[in-house]
Amino acid sequence: MSDAIEAHLEESRRVPPSASFVARARVADRSLHAEADADFAAFWLRQAREQITWYREPTESLDDSNAPFYRWFADGSLNLTYNCLDRHVEAGGGDKVAFTWVGEPGDERVITYAELLADVERAASALQALGVGKGDRVAIYLGMVMELPIAMLACARIGAIHSVVFGGFAATALADRIQDATCKLVITADGAWRRGQIIPLKDIVDEAVASCPSVEHVLVVRRTEQEVAWLAHDTWWHEAMAAADPRCAPEHMDAEDVLFMLYTSGTTAKPKGIVHTSGGYLLGAIMSHQWVFDIRPDDVYWCTADCGWVTGHTYVVYGPLANHATSVIYEGTPEHPSWDRHWQLVERHKVTIYYTAPTAIRALIKAGEDAVERHDGSSLRLLGTVGEPINPEAWVWYHEHVGRGQCPIVDTWWQTETGSIVLSPLPGLSTTKPGSAIGPLPGMKPVIVDEQGAEVPVGGGGYLTLQRPWPSMLRTIWGDDQRFIDTYWSRFGPTVYFTGDGARTDADGDLWLLGRVDDVINVAGHRISTTEIESALVGHPAVAEAAAIGAEDEIKGEHIAAFVILRDGHEATEELRQALATHVAGLIGKFARPKLLLFAPDLPKTRSGKIMRRLLKDIAEGRELGDATTLRDPAIVQAIKADADRQMHR
Ligand code: WTA
Repeated sequence: MSDAIEAHLEESRRVPPSASFVARARVADRSLHAEADADFAAFWLRQAREQITWYREPTESLDDSNAPFYRWFADGSLNLTYNCLDRHVEAGGGDKVAFTWVGEPGDERVITYAELLADVERAASALQALGVGKGDRVAIYLGMVMELPIAMLACARIGAIHSVVFGGFAATALADRIQDATCKLVITADGAWRRGQIIPLKDIVDEAVASCPSVEHVLVVRRTEQEVAWLAHDTWWHEAMAAADPRCAPEHMDAEDVLFMLYTSGTTAKPKGIVHTSGGYLLGAIMSHQWVFDIRPDDVYWCTADCGWVTGHTYVVYGPLANHATSVIYEGTPEHPSWDRHWQLVERHKVTIYYTAPTAIRALIKAGEDAVERHDGSSLRLLGTVGEPINPEAWVWYHEHVGRGQCPIVDTWWQTETGSIVLSPLPGLSTTKPGSAIGPLPGMKPVIVDEQGAEVPVGGGGYLTLQRPWPSMLRTIWGDDQRFIDTYWSRFGPTVYFTGDGARTDADGDLWLLGRVDDVINVAGHRISTTEIESALVGHPAVAEAAAIGAEDEIKGEHIAAFVILRDGHEATEELRQALATHVAGLIGKFARPKLLLFAPDLPKTRSGKIMRRLLKDIAEGRELGDATTLRDPAIVQAIKADADRQMHR
């Protein structure tokens, strides 16, 4: 679509909530926003007392005496799994389906709340039998099998801290994360299904754990059933489950006890272990899931995220379960075995709420409308997106073809760090616009600021900050309080949270996200830092220097382009190009493989030695080159461009 048409779409289309939706919506006016704005600490404490079942009810709301190390509901005591499982079963809701799990090969498991509780209790006992207790760290490295949520919940039941590592990460990346958290136990599987192929998870874990002395046991789920090597510290999941005590009482956790950590990329090569605690995180998950998804007892809700990312934590596991929802989980990717897989599942399971990433939507557009139209999607009533800005064209397609023009779309902005959704339309309240995240949920205070930290007036753009603490906010970076302060609480002052995103408001004051303003690339909704890729590249013996950038990608939002200077004695061959891309994938994971890798005689640097990333971006995106006169050596750009032209026209 041309830029002009796209701009026109952005500005002109308005989709008000339908009358029928408004009539039944959980949030249909701004009274919650008003209550929160009047006294946000009191507002959150009221919600916390009403929505969470506590062992000891909190009397305190926000403790900001040691900002930015904020604490919430600190004198409260609870257990997440009691709130997600036991309380529903005790109230007579044990027979309700918690998850309909569908495997990639087509196998299915329907699990009720009572059954899920039984499995979680057994798994929790099994962890205890392996010596895992409160405060211990457990790495979970699995595909989207039912055991993944069960393992997370089993940790939460006994107060162990889970660190889920996405099954697409390579052995080195996995080892870094296990070492940083000094995990005692790793939970994995023999393999994971991925487009009909097996990802050999166990082999990868064996390689990683060889350099992780803290690991005492590896618990292995049987999924893909190929032969695997068996080491002294290995235990089969099913054997541990069979031997385990079927009962396991929930540990009483303080609201500020750590629930989980989840690694995400920052602007250095070392990933950050984002730390979330129990009470505040749960409240954020519960409230946002109710408000944004307008969840009702008869909904069938499907969030397509993998539990390896934060969306899977908050909107596959904790939010939906705490709200006693029925969810669908699908093990595979949308294109396997065919592009209508998701719509088949929507039809078969009568999904009412569908929440996915813009990348998936763009890929589905490419696959064609008939894949959607071949199936009955009339059960759908609400659609959502997350992970990256959605372009208006994709939004409109989603609205018309998946939503039949009748389903509101919630474009939800948030981060691993925020724990739960911060900005989103509310489906019974907001007039939506294709590509806009509209505005804050109750209690949140986004402020767009300029370079100096001054608020940008309505209609302008700048840096997105959050200027009021919220319960599900990150508490720190694991083992690195200083980095926590430096990354999030320094740029604009000690009480201003810097998101790392750019944003603008339109004339109505509605918010539009503009992507990252730091060195983080967003590939298909996965965060990767440029430095992580660069350090992987310079770790290769042929590479002297490297620069990585995110370049625009039609489907994935961004793809990785890398510029490489070779050491003397190495030749710029096609084989080396492939070898370097494979090297990066081998260290970080396949999703981090550079799509474009260019050899450069030198990197374009300013006279003060700063790499001109903008020029690299122009080259990678095949644009006319901008001003290069400030460069130390303008000829370099032409040389890189020549290599780029050869690559792109092959
Ligand atoms: C981006 C994913 C635009 C953003 C929940 C953020 C978005 C980063 C949106 C966090 C959205 C997420 N519109 N951009 N609706 N949602 N982002 O930690 O750049 O994996 O900072 O959390 O994704 O990615 P993360």
